[in-house]
Amino acid sequence: MEKVKHAVVIYARYERFWHWSQAILIFVLAFSGFVIHGTFNLIDFETAVNIHTYSAIALILLWLFTTFWNFTTGNWKQFLPRTQGLLAVIRYYAWDILFGRPHPHTKTMRRKQNALQGLSYLTFMIVIGPALWVSGIIYLTYDLWNVIEGSQDIFQVVTFFHTAAAFMMMAFAFIHIYMTTTGKTPLHYIKTMITGVETIELTAAEKAYFAEQHPKMLRDKE
Ligand code: HEM
Repeated sequence: MEKVKHAVVIYARYERFWHWSQAILIFVLAFSGFVIHGTFNLIDFETAVNIHTYSAIALILLWLFTTFWNFTTGNWKQFLPRTQGLLAVIRYYAWDILFGRPHPHTKTMRRKQNALQGLSYLTFMIVIGPALWVSGIIYLTYDLWNVIEGSQDIFQVVTFFHTAAAFMMMAFAFIHIYMTTTGKTPLHYIKTMITGVETIELTAAEKAYFAEQHPKMLRDKE
């Protein structure tokens, strides 16, 4: 099948909005959360609790809406785990990248993410995210269940899980930000997530589909 490279809008407007608002909320939650935890005290405790509670509610709403968006647009298929190409991508980031060798994954509309990236986003969505919101909601509703026997002990376990998940989220964020710098230029991937545009290979059928149905998504005039 013949494929030609084209500049295409690969991240829809909602996808970019969701990505950046999620990033801001996670940053705000991490900052206020670690003030609550006592790691640093750049703002007072009560303000941190208020900021944390409201941003948590906003993030849960954003996640609910985005889950709905992912399923209704078919975007969920991008996150299906696969092993094909996984070893090559691991080898690339561990070794080949140091010698400027080409990335083994070619972005397509069907697979915008490489296998390793897909797996890490899936872990984010089904492990780290839920660990935070489940433990967070139990934490938030402590006043409703503090009458049950052993509530103090349960509370300790919940705060432990919430903090452990927060550390996992931070590890994800640091690795994710490092990965964004490994494109053609250090800011290439960041720019793509702002403009939505990336040069990828399109099949003749995909190109015809875009030209006919979504001409604005094709950003070059060939
Ligand atoms: C997603 C929904 C979330 C909910 C519902 C939630 C809820 C909560 C609540 C209720 C508290 C206790 C505040 C208080 O003392 O009243 C808390 C603490 C905390 N949160 Fe979250 N949170 C969420 C997400 C996050 C995220 C994304 C992070 C960091 C990346 C985070 C990090 C923390 C930390 C470090 C603490 C302090 C734990 C401790 O030492 O007790 N939270 N959270």
